[in-house]
Amino acid sequence: MSKPIRRLELAGASVSVYSKSTDACQVAAERISGVISKALAVRGHAVLGLATGSTPEPVYARLVEAYREGILTFAKVSTYNLDEYYPMGPLDPQSYRTYMHRHLFGHVDLGANRAHLLDGTVPEAFAPSHAADFDRWIEAEGGLDLQLLGVGRNGHIGFNEPTDLPVEQVLALPTRLVDLHPTTISDAAKDFGGEDRVPRQALTVGIAPILAARSILVLAFGDRKAGAVARSLRGPITGEVPGSLLQTVPGKVEWLIDEAAGAEIL
Ligand code: F6R
Repeated sequence: MSKPIRRLELAGASVSVYSKSTDACQVAAERISGVISKALAVRGHAVLGLATGSTPEPVYARLVEAYREGILTFAKVSTYNLDEYYPMGPLDPQSYRTYMHRHLFGHVDLGANRAHLLDGTVPEAFAPSHAADFDRWIEAEGGLDLQLLGVGRNGHIGFNEPTDLPVEQVLALPTRLVDLHPTTISDAAKDFGGEDRVPRQALTVGIAPILAARSILVLAFGDRKAGAVARSLRGPITGEVPGSLLQTVPGKVEWLIDEAAGAEIL
């Protein structure tokens, strides 16, 4: 088991700092396996909220390894991904559906009707009802046992972008169609071959369903994330830094970060 070089309690969250991001990802995979076993023992099934992006890739690689080693099964697991670009076809190489298939779904025994992503092909007029259905599906399964999160440079979680709405309103935000923030579009440009090709909108799981998860695991690596990590953990609770809203659910959030991402809190 990889050991953190530093462990601290900040704003109600436990924060473990690792010298290597791969060590943190190994621990994240162990946490996810532990949550699956516990949920299976208690309720007979496990419900995971998953993230995409570059940060969790090694976590999925480790989960696939554990499945291949026969120490983990997804047979009784359901997954709900945080977000999908809009509009976006499921087979598009840039879709998060494709990402999940490449990194996890295509390699483990997770049933196709248990691997849920928001649908980037839904007609715009039906996006609100589709998003509300997604929240209902999660609730009908008894809620998320664990939500895995990355954090954007602008502090976003899922694609809940910075907003000047009052905190109470932000905390109630459901799953919905959103406009992407310029920083998000600029960060996605490399994946799409230019900023012009990045979709301007996305469907995202809302702040309310994210915070309702029974446990939340946040990963952040590299100096590009240092500002967002510090503003999330040390800054005021504000919609301008969606990661700071995690401070409103003390006791159930764990941050696994590397030294570079922790530079401004250590
Ligand atoms: C992805 C997601 C985003 C990312 C964040 C960090 O499903 O919801 O919030 O977690 O943008 O992205 P990476 O990991 O690529 O730095």
